Amino acid sequence: MPTTTPLIIGQASQPVPLLPRMANRHGLIAGATGTGKTVTLQCLAEEFSLQGVPVFLADVKGDLSGISQPGKEHPRIRERVDSMGLSDFEYRGFPVTFWDVFGAQGHPVRTTISELGPLLLSRLLNLNETQQGVLALVFRVADDNGWLLLDIKDLRSMLRYVAENAREFRTLYGNISAASVGAIQRRLITLESQGGKKLLGEPALNLDDLMQTDNQGLGMINILAADKLMEAPDLYGTFLLWMMSELFENLPEVGDRDKPRLVLFFDEAHLMFDDTPEALLDKIEQVVRLIRSKGVGVYFVTQNPLDIPENVLGQLGNRVQHALRAYTPKDQKAVRAAAQTFRPNPKLDTVAAITEMGVGEALVSTLDGKGRPRIVQRALIRPPRSQIGPITRKLRKELMGTSIVAGIYDKPVDRKSAYEVLSARAEQMAREHEAQEVEKAREKELKKASRGRGGRQRQTVMESFFKSAARAVGSQIGRQVIRGVLGSLLGGKRR
Ligand SMILES: Nc1ncnc2c1ncn2[C@@H]1O[C@H](COP(=O)(O)OP(=O)(O)OP(=O)(O)O)[C@@H](O)[C@H]1O
Ligand SMILES: [Mg+2]
Repeated sequence: MPTTTPLIIGQASQPVPLLPRMANRHGLIAGATGTGKTVTLQCLAEEFSLQGVPVFLADVKGDLSGISQPGKEHPRIRERVDSMGLSDFEYRGFPVTFWDVFGAQGHPVRTTISELGPLLLSRLLNLNETQQGVLALVFRVADDNGWLLLDIKDLRSMLRYVAENAREFRTLYGNISAASVGAIQRRLITLESQGGKKLLGEPALNLDDLMQTDNQGLGMINILAADKLMEAPDLYGTFLLWMMSELFENLPEVGDRDKPRLVLFFDEAHLMFDDTPEALLDKIEQVVRLIRSKGVGVYFVTQNPLDIPENVLGQLGNRVQHALRAYTPKDQKAVRAAAQTFRPNPKLDTVAAITEMGVGEALVSTLDGKGRPRIVQRALIRPPRSQIGPITRKLRKELMGTSIVAGIYDKPVDRKSAYEVLSARAEQMAREHEAQEVEKAREKELKKASRGRGGRQRQTVMESFFKSAARAVGSQIGRQVIRGVLGSLLGGKRR
């Protein structure tokens, strides 16, 4: 049964606790490659789940699906269990929900263009200020008309619409440069090829689905397949930022609770901050600061703490620092910087420890009951209860088939939105235009025919031809026929 006793992260001279009611004060897991970050994340996720706290994590290397299965007996694990005196240790699996933007390794996870919003979308598309202005304008025009921006084709048709009516919009909304519109259209092509087409659309992720517990009250562990997603770092980083801000905007204020409502682990967290414009960084900093009062804890996982902007780093109360290498002067500087972020322990040389520690060992400092950082300890991290490393594809499929969200997200839905509205509008306008053209051409032919010899007969032929052609207008094929016929009749003019 879930309880709210301290989570035990590892063992120094004493067990190292993480207090559940301080878990929303965020955290950091750092360390060089292969030093144990992922296993630490796995252990923390397990401990939260046992307390009934749901977890979301990005699985960058595809090695976290093993959380769903009990670990296998191994001398190294057993040795750790014994040396730490973990009397309650048992191998066990945890309830998981698999998610995947590409829909292959998990249930599809989607959001919409409007939920993403102009700020994050600008970051995703790498837009300059002028282009950002155009994008913001497109959102406004869509809003003012009540047209939904759900998927990329909605955005595309809105861009086209705005460009075509730039002159009319100028007084109301300001300048719209054709070059900016073109640039955004081109970026959208790249985004589509990177998976944006799958990410942006419906049914969009309902965040409540991340905050589930199983029938025993264990927190659900949501695993986002991020191996392929990582190939488009902007997409990955933006997605994580979206998720955090969406939770922030939608969850009610709860103040300090005895445990978090949800804990997020963001692996390769530097990707959330690289190439991020100042305005967005400010917003991230604010969201990280305020999401705490919504009962959400955010844990960043990265190689080096310096990868995280200072004003975000300053908010990460619970820290696990695995070993760092110190080969180059730059490395050494990073080691010293990492060491200095801790509240010093007179009995411990932090700088030396950071370079010496073995795999699965770390410097740990968590917050005490009053929210103050405890002095840093060198600790052996607890071994996971679940399997280290991935499960088979087959097992993953089976778990997806029985998951609580099975069938909810699997099929995309394309409801009426800006694209459909604008297509219908364009269709209607084209139809009216065609009808006018047909009428004009008919009058012209009639005039010509009545002037010529034997006109009476030709007139009837032409008349009946245009009548039937005009009837065909409205169906796509009919319109194309007419366009072709009229095109050659009227001197090859194309519209
Ligand atoms: N707490 C632990 N208990 C037992 N074994 C561990 C522990 N931590 C790490 N290990 C062992 O070390 C291996 C490497 O650890 P891990 O995958 O967590 O490294 P990492 O820091 O995530 O590396 P990368 O940056 O390459 O992803 C694990 O596969 C596991 O065998
Ligand atoms: Mg790892």
